[in-house]
Amino acid sequence: MVSGKKDLLSLLELTTDEINGILLTAQQVKHQRPIADVRIFNNKSGVMIFEKPSLRTRITFETAMYELGGHPINLSADTIGLGKRETVADIARNLERWVHLIIARTFSHVTVKKLAEFSSIPVINALTDLFHPCQALAFAQTLHETIDRRTNVHAVFIGDCNNVCNSIMVLCVKLGYDFTVVCPPQYTPHPQILKECLSIAQSKGCTVTVSHDIFNAVKNATVLYTDVWTSMGQEAETERRRRDFSPYQVNRAVLSHAPADVLVSHCLPAHRGEEITSEVLDSEHSIALEEAENRLHVQKAVIVHLFS
Ligand code: CP
Ligand code: NVA
Repeated sequence: MVSGKKDLLSLLELTTDEINGILLTAQQVKHQRPIADVRIFNNKSGVMIFEKPSLRTRITFETAMYELGGHPINLSADTIGLGKRETVADIARNLERWVHLIIARTFSHVTVKKLAEFSSIPVINALTDLFHPCQALAFAQTLHETIDRRTNVHAVFIGDCNNVCNSIMVLCVKLGYDFTVVCPPQYTPHPQILKECLSIAQSKGCTVTVSHDIFNAVKNATVLYTDVWTSMGQEAETERRRRDFSPYQVNRAVLSHAPADVLVSHCLPAHRGEEITSEVLDSEHSIALEEAENRLHVQKAVIVHLFS
């Protein structure tokens, strides 16, 4: 990494104060829409590289850069032949000569790390196999808007211990929230990420729990979170995963074991009828669309943070 420049590859790199600072900026720019007062990205260009499909991430980053006075450029990984036509390192070394920011959605987390290592400009992880930090920040912004700040938060993630789960877990421990993941016994969290989160939780005085008992885990939840059982790139495992995860659906029965005012969220896209029923996703418990909206605001705040 070039000394002095900042990247956002995972929330593990951010301090609690930095996360709170980003969330504060996110609220400010939300109220300044459409055009943010802050001009730090004015007349700058940001390139977006996507190896996988996207609706929310692509539109919110493109809009965020435009509303910060900058110029978004969208590239599909196929167009540039990421790691095929040219090495990731060479692409990074070229991009830094023209633009000011790289936003990348890649299969392997190693790819965004390489983009960051071989360029002198900030790199933002727009989802990898390991992390989805912008989603977790949008979740935090939404939670702060919805509940009393003094609430002792207990977030319960139900389903696959995937990129979104990892980022929500890191966010929770950084903010001192209790976190439980409920998953099938054969799909437990990434050991190294879990270890790091357990250590942060200890220093923050909160808990991280791995459970396989969905009804018991949701008993004192503030918010339930879920995501697809088959992430992009795992399509060959779809049928097996459908079988393995079917007892872990967020449905009315699960909600009936949770507090009456429990919130429910999902990063979207949802596979309705698999990890969550429409009845729950479209209910008054759901904050999924508010969270989707906040992707725009929190990502503006991330860009401001990286350029400040
Ligand atoms: N939640 C999310 O990142 O959505 P997209 O895959 O549509 O960008
Ligand atoms: N876990 C999902 C998140 C999509 C936003 C995936 O990686 O496909």
